[in-house]
Amino acid sequence: MTLSKSPKSSPHLKVLIRRTAIQKRVRQVARQITKDFKGQRVHLVGVLKGACIFLSDLAREINLETSLDFIAVSSYGARKESSGQVRVNKDLDSSIAGLNVILVEDILDTGLTVSYLRRILLQRRPKTLKVAALLDKPSRRIIKEIQADYAGFSIPDKFVVGYGLDFAEKYRNLKDVCVLCDPEITATPSEPASKSSRSKL
Ligand code: IMP
Repeated sequence: MTLSKSPKSSPHLKVLIRRTAIQKRVRQVARQITKDFKGQRVHLVGVLKGACIFLSDLAREINLETSLDFIAVSSYGARKESSGQVRVNKDLDSSIAGLNVILVEDILDTGLTVSYLRRILLQRRPKTLKVAALLDKPSRRIIKEIQADYAGFSIPDKFVVGYGLDFAEKYRNLKDVCVLCDPEITATPSEPASKSSRSKL
């Protein structure tokens, strides 16, 4: 995977995955889900906010009865490194008992968030629980057994934004996934947690 020239909006952004490649891969993932759950209903649970754009594109490509819900967690505090602590800020609206749940994430990084969410969702007795993640940074994984059942792209250890992913609430609306190359941003931020928006809600 090579980086190409920056979007005009910022010299600090380099396109890593173009919108056309994302569309194509989302369609393939949706086709696989449609095949795997043939004749059944699936219940997509999006992890706010990062997964919202991936989820809305994915949902429209799945050719099955599909329902949606959202959960919001915070995990990062002020740093780009995970604190290892995950907290639910907004829970699901309805029960998932007996449903084919697909947890939809923007990116699997350390795996701490998905590991925590899997644990709490399994306690609610879904019929099945799978994980769909647009991006995967396997080299960063702390919880080694966490894998996406449906993975979009494996990427190197770079901080990425766009297509739902943010830094300080910026860049979520970019159509491409871009690497954020601002040297000031790659330094460990020193501001207090309350100012950070690396948390998910
Ligand atoms: P994990 O618990 O370390 O797997 O963290 C997953 C969450 O961290 C994702 O849902 C994102 O919100 C955030 N995250 C991890 N890497 C990136 C990145 O490169 N860009 C933006 N957000 C990221």
